[in-house]
Amino acid sequence: MNLFVANWKMHMTREQARAYAEALGELIDDGIPGAELVLAPPFTALEAARDREGRWSLAAQNLSEHASGAFTGEVSAEMLADSGCRYVIVGHSERRTLFGEDGPRLAGKVARARDFGLVPIYCVGETGAERLAGETAATLARQLETLRDDPAMEPLVIAYEPVWAIGSGLAATPVDSAAAAKRIAELLPTRGDLRILYGGSVTAGNAAELLGRGRVNGFLVGGASLDAGAFAAIARSGAA
Ligand code: PGA
Repeated sequence: MNLFVANWKMHMTREQARAYAEALGELIDDGIPGAELVLAPPFTALEAARDREGRWSLAAQNLSEHASGAFTGEVSAEMLADSGCRYVIVGHSERRTLFGEDGPRLAGKVARARDFGLVPIYCVGETGAERLAGETAATLARQLETLRDDPAMEPLVIAYEPVWAIGSGLAATPVDSAAAAKRIAELLPTRGDLRILYGGSVTAGNAAELLGRGRVNGFLVGGASLDAGAFAAIARSGAA
């Protein structure tokens, strides 16, 4: 069963989220065989994006590395679990580059997610400059070091998202994404339940090809996921 996560980023009011959920429900009917669907709305639209029939689950896009306390503007793992989240995205490249999130803080976020049974969708990926310098494998190894203390038997999702492919319209080639997924699996040899997603300019047009090879188990979809029809089409073409 492949996994498809819709990362809405900072888009969608509650009303838009409700309309999306209704449209997605009609498009997938009883669900798409072989595809697990997850919506990752902004915090404010989590409730509106929920499916009472359980055909998709919810992810948050971020969480605090602290359990609770005087952290104005932050949202805790406990609050996310209480809001019905099953997953949480940790370390998206936008959090890393725009908000300065780094290894120790991300390790704290993963630990807090575990405290409340949330499955982390931990994002890794090299920048364009790192890729040109031949540093992709070293970057992945460094970013995965953050998971050193995370228990190996807990379910884990890694999203390989090359920074240069995010929102650029230029997806990695199937060969590149398969090679990175293989490398990630090799770097996490003791993991009992590991799924590896690809993310970066995934569309209904390239989804089947990107999943055709190797160890990619689904997608983290940004721009194309804002349209319920496009997201359903991606999941349908990548279902397995
Ligand atoms: P994109 O974003 O699909 O718009 O490239 C992917 C992501 O940032 O998760």
